[in-house]
This record gives sequence, C-alpha cells and structure tokens, in this order.
Amino acid sequence: MYNLNDMDYQLILNELHELYTLEKDKGKVASYIPELKKVLPTKFGINLYTLSNKSYGVGDFNEKFSIQSISKVLALTYALQLVGKKLWNRVGVEPSGDPFNSLVQLEFEKGIPRNPLINAGALVVCDVLISNLKKPKENFLSFVQKLADNSNLSYNLKIVASEKKYGFKNAAHVNLMKSFGNIKNSVEVVLDLYYHICSIGMTCEELSQTFLLFANGGVLPNTNERIISKSFTKRINATTQLCGLYDEAGKFAFKVGLPGKSGVGGGIVAVHPGKYCITVWSPKLNKKGNSVKGLKVLELFTTKTEASIF
Ligand code: DON
Repeated sequence: MYNLNDMDYQLILNELHELYTLEKDKGKVASYIPELKKVLPTKFGINLYTLSNKSYGVGDFNEKFSIQSISKVLALTYALQLVGKKLWNRVGVEPSGDPFNSLVQLEFEKGIPRNPLINAGALVVCDVLISNLKKPKENFLSFVQKLADNSNLSYNLKIVASEKKYGFKNAAHVNLMKSFGNIKNSVEVVLDLYYHICSIGMTCEELSQTFLLFANGGVLPNTNERIISKSFTKRINATTQLCGLYDEAGKFAFKVGLPGKSGVGGGIVAVHPGKYCITVWSPKLNKKGNSVKGLKVLELFTTKTEASIF
C-alpha cells in the first residue's frame, strides 16, 4: 500500500496516465451530438484536488471539455437549495438500471423519473429551476461559478445548438412528463435550460474543485460558505453513488467504491468524502456512455490507494 502523503498522489496519477496512455481501447467518442464528435479521441487527463487545497494533475487535465451529464449533480444541488425536500415529490431516488435516455419506465411510473441523474430526472430538475429563478440560465451559471470559485466558466453555445437540433428523445421525455403534469413550464424553455447546463466546459481540475463541497459536507472549502445542508449532501452523494453511472452504477460502486458522475463528453468525477475529488477525462465511451479509460483509471486508483468509502 502507498503511504498517502502528498507526493504519492502525483506519483500514482503519473503511473496511471502512463499505463493507460499506451493502452488501446475500443470505446467511441459520442457522435449523437455532432459538435462533441470534434474532440480528439486521444485526449486524456487526470486531476485530484484535496480538501487541503492541493491539486495534482497529469496529461490534458487543464483543457476544457463538455461536462454534459455531470452538471446534473449541480442542478440537483441548486434545486434542493431552492425548494428542499419537496423536490422528491417530483423525482425519485432509485437507480433506474436503464440507459440514461431511456423512456421505458417513465410511462409506467406516470411521468415521475426514477432519479434526478437520468435525463428525465434532470429535465424535471430544470423545470423546478425555471419555476424558482428569475434568470435561470444566468443564475445557474453564477451558481456553478461560485461552487467552482471560478468566473471563467461558460456555456458552449455551439454544443447547445448541436444538441437542440438532434434532441428528439429529450423532447419526447419532456412532452411525456408534461402529459402527466410533471412539467410546469413550456417544453422549449425546459429543453433550452437543460442543453445549456450540459454544455458547460470545464477542465479536470475545475471539475474536481467544483465538486469539493460534496467531499466537505456541503461547505465550500475556500470560503467556508455553506451551500447545502449536511443531510442533503449525504443524499446527493448517495444518489450519485447509486445513479451517477446509469446502468453501470453497480459496477462502478463494485470496482471503484466512490460516488461518481459521468458525462458523454468523456469526463467522470468521483468524490471521496472528507478527502478529495478526482476527475478523469478521456472521450472514448463504452456502450453505456461512460468513459472507458475513466473507469479503468478510477478502479486502479482506488485499488492502489486502498481507499474507498466502503
Ligand atoms: O441529454 C443528453 O443526451 C446529453 N446532454 C447528456 C447525456 C450524458 O452526458 C449522459 N452521460 N453519460
């Protein structure tokens, strides 16, 4: 086992990066959002950010990529901050066991999504944000900038337009939920906010830093500002653990043992409460929409460090 002093984290990240840079994998860059296809498939970065404000990075850890579904955790946090536990009347907390964009359960379960981290759930969360914010897009971006302690974050409007053009299935989700009364605002406005929040660009380092509050009981480590209660933080981490990698969440818990969230931009961020956040970016995805190298790196990281939440 490694002695987990500060030096060792950099050493471990370097080792993992070297090992998996050489490895060929069968993953494919997401192509259903044409703008995402433009990324170089060999991009590969890792960052670990500790609660003691130390950052360790290797490879392309300082290059921005589209965080996509990772922002569902941030939207959930904001909605819980705004409306509290009432949110659970409109979205569940059970793993879906289905792909992130599956419509199958939604009709059976009368327009109540299984959880806030599948597309249906995130769309309901966006609806809640719209109902409770004066300027939802501006307010959401400012919220994320505050969590990240970084004003250099923005929406990528090319990605928004690209996803909007081909977003037939997301439109189907919102329409179906609206038919059950679980969407209060107009379909177009809900989709527009959803595509914006997915389009935010961040580096691995920025993502790790943004997620530190989930390792810190809901408090921003830099300013000591409480964003969300300890109890909600526990629930957000639990939801992330159970639902963050969709129908691969069980395997992720089994192999990595940390709450984690993936996005089709190829990022995965994982949280070790009380310690750190770690982000891996590698755009080639497996069939479940999760980064192939991201999964491998995180599995070997928690194996080498013998540190998981279990
Ligand atoms: O709605 C979509 O399809 C994308 N904006 C987000 C999907 C995503 O990142 C799923 N994650 N693995």
